Amino acid sequence: MDITFLLNGEVVSLTGLAPTTTLLDWLRETQHLTGTKEGCNEGDCGACTVMITDQDGSRALNGCILFMPQINGKSVTTVEGIGSPDGTLHPVQQSMIDHHGSQCGFCTPGFVVTMATAHLNGKTDHDIQLAGNLCRCTGYAPIIRAAQAAEPQPVPDHLKTFRLPNGQKSSGGPAQPDGGRQPPRHLHPQTTDDLAHWYAAHPDATLIAGATDVGLWVTKQFRPLGPIAFLNQIEDLRGITDAGNHWRIGAMTTITELEAHFAPHHPSLAAMLRRYGSTQVRNAATIGGNIANGSPIGDGPPALIAMGATLHLRHGDARRSLPLEDFFIEYGKQDRAPGEFVEAVTVPKQPDSLRCYKLSKRFDQDISAVCGCININRNKDTITDARIAFGGMAGTPKRAAQTEAALINQPFTEQTIRLAMTSLQQDFQPLSDVRASAQYRMATAQNMLLRYLLDAQGVQIDLHGVTA
Ligand SMILES: Cc1cc2nc3c(=O)[nH]c(=O)nc-3n(C[C@H](O)[C@H](O)[C@H](O)COP(=O)(O)OP(=O)(O)OC[C@H]3O[C@@H](n4cnc5c(N)ncnc54)[C@H](O)[C@@H]3O)c2cc1C
Ligand code: FES
Ligand code: FES
Repeated sequence: MDITFLLNGEVVSLTGLAPTTTLLDWLRETQHLTGTKEGCNEGDCGACTVMITDQDGSRALNGCILFMPQINGKSVTTVEGIGSPDGTLHPVQQSMIDHHGSQCGFCTPGFVVTMATAHLNGKTDHDIQLAGNLCRCTGYAPIIRAAQAAEPQPVPDHLKTFRLPNGQKSSGGPAQPDGGRQPPRHLHPQTTDDLAHWYAAHPDATLIAGATDVGLWVTKQFRPLGPIAFLNQIEDLRGITDAGNHWRIGAMTTITELEAHFAPHHPSLAAMLRRYGSTQVRNAATIGGNIANGSPIGDGPPALIAMGATLHLRHGDARRSLPLEDFFIEYGKQDRAPGEFVEAVTVPKQPDSLRCYKLSKRFDQDISAVCGCININRNKDTITDARIAFGGMAGTPKRAAQTEAALINQPFTEQTIRLAMTSLQQDFQPLSDVRASAQYRMATAQNMLLRYLLDAQGVQIDLHGVTA
């Protein structure tokens, strides 16, 4: 593939690039920009963090699971470009020195890039911004102190104004040039129509959205991907539009964008999404990928199902829609034909009675053991409607039909909730795995129902608090 981007302010044009080359590998192996580190190579540690800037602003991303075509037309700033060209350190770099924020130093470049990106964006919620950066020596307090101390310092001029390699788009051509005799083996489409027609003709292709799953197929499983379409340049697959009584969410909408959108309407959902991976992961991962991968432990689907979302699929020029819960047939099997893709998901606007509870071994940067999303509507004290969906309780994200039935037309009381908790055993027979045992999953899912009642009664629950 042919791509053009800015690297620390300089235009770079590459031709004939293998499309699954990661930015991390390219930086280290061809540019010898070794400040960007490889720790886990799977999006978990932040050692490889780079700042990516485009028309929408600057964000921190993990370079280890970022394929080169995904940076086409954008500006990349590595740790080598964070300080000023005259050698003056960035305020966060100086602050890390002043506050002893580094010991062995391996994690430090990643921290510095995340901190500089947060500093540029005026973000001071450091625990959240830095949750995707791991340090095994220093302890986080000096690093957080360094970030706080740098807050009042001005953003250096060289990071304030970004040029972009205007209008350059990927050629979408073959990875191995074939003189134009064959149709493109890999595609970098600009429109949904282009994608639809190409994918219908190449149903064996791999679609790459944010690459937070597909990246690991390459870096961990060394899987050959065959023909590839990168979706990141398709503007009409992105963003959230107000369509009267519902919101239409394009498949390429990131979790960061979703979190920001839902914060004023469904704060509990936004709070759960804030625990989805890390800042870097949320900046890359898309809701289309989160649905299409069919994972039983994805955090997006249970919440969307509980809100009554409709999924919109497209194959060539043909479109169809279905309730999101019907998309998930069984573990590893979804209602999606070869060559068909997720175009959007629509969510009805509704009063906020949704609560989302994520249970994972760590608070941040961890996949759910159980994700419970509960949406109960009432008329005075009588339950009129209940939509309840769980992740981690079955081979797919799944509605709790028996539990819902046990609630509807009943008074919203502890007695009703406790009866519904027993119904949950008819809805689910969870598995035991490394994240949780079957019994623990069931007990915690039942307790999520009780927690919903306590939330409605205004009982404060502190997830960080530990009590005997
Ligand atoms: C460190 C880390 C932490 C994570 N934490 C969480 C977490 O807390 N919660 C959670 O739910 N997930 C988590 N994930 C998983 C991952 O982020 C999600 O599944 C993500 O939403 C996938 O989206 P993507 O855009 O990155 O998809 P990609 O990796 O690009 O694609 C995933 C799959 O979907 C397909 N696909 C993508 N878009 C479409 C489309 N429009 N139509 C049809 N098929 C499509 C791809 O072909 C592929 O099969 C984590 C991942 C990592 C690496
Ligand atoms: S190397 Fe660990 S997140 Fe990239
Ligand atoms: S300073 Fe050693 S890992 Fe952070």
